[in-house]
Amino acid sequence: MSEENEMPRFIRLKETTSTNNYLRGLVGKEQLPEGSVVVTDFQTAGRGQVGNSWESEGGRNLMFSVILYPDFLPANRQFLISQIAALSVKETLDQYTDDITVKWPNDIYWKDRKICGMLIENDLTGQSLFCSVIGIGININQQEFRSNAPNPVSLTQITGREYDLDEILNSFLERLYNRYLGLIREQEDEIRNDYMAALYRGKGFHAYRDEQGTFQARIRGIEPTGHLILELNDGEVRRYAFKEVSTVIT
Ligand code: BTN
Repeated sequence: MSEENEMPRFIRLKETTSTNNYLRGLVGKEQLPEGSVVVTDFQTAGRGQVGNSWESEGGRNLMFSVILYPDFLPANRQFLISQIAALSVKETLDQYTDDITVKWPNDIYWKDRKICGMLIENDLTGQSLFCSVIGIGININQQEFRSNAPNPVSLTQITGREYDLDEILNSFLERLYNRYLGLIREQEDEIRNDYMAALYRGKGFHAYRDEQGTFQARIRGIEPTGHLILELNDGEVRRYAFKEVSTVIT
C-alpha cells in the first residue's frame, strides 16, 4: 500500500458511536498507518448516507471503517475510491452467493435487496485528497430486520448458513488493498470496466429518479470522470454526478 510500508493497525471495539467517527477522531491526533481498520460489534449512532442512520444487530454483522491517504488523487477523482470499495465488497460477497451487484454509486445489492451500504468521508488539502475514511456495513448473520427500508437482506437469509465475520472482513481487506494498489498504478480503465460490469440493472430499461421526476432509461456507461450516462427510450442522453440520480426499486 503506502510507500512507507508501515503495517496497518487493526482496532477492535466492543461498542462505539460510529466507526467512521472513531477513525476520523484519531486522524489529527496520531498518524495512523494507511489501511488501518476499526471494527465494532455495535454502533450506538451508526451513520448512513444523506444523514440517515445505520442500524445493525449487535455482533451479527460487519461494521468497520478503513483509512486511506490517496494524496495522489485530485479532488474530482474521489469517485475512484468509491468504485474500488464497492468492487471489493462485491468480489468478497461473490465468494458466497450469486447475484451481487453494485447499485450506482456504491450500494451493494443481492437481487433487488440491499446487503451492504457505505459511507465514504473524504478530507481534502487544497485540490487533492488528504484522507479517505471508508465506512462499510455488511449484513451477514442477521436473521430478520425491523424495518423494510431499504429492503434489506443478509448473507444468512440468502444462503441459510452463518459466517465467520473476521474471515469475510479479511477477504474484503485483501481485495481493497489490491484494488488500491491498482489505483496507485493508474489502472483506472480496468477499475472502470470491472465497475461497469458489476452494475445493478446494467442492461435493459429501468426506472430512475432525478430532481425532475421518474423516467425509464438504460445505462450507457460510466465516464472516466465518474459520471453515469443514461439513455432514455427517446434517445435523449443524460449525464449524472454522484447522487444526482437514483434507481427506483419496483
Ligand atoms: C448507507 O447505505 O446509508 C451507508 C451505511 C454505512 C454504514 C457503515 S457501518 C460502519 C460505518 N460507520 C458508520 O457510522 N457508518 C458506516
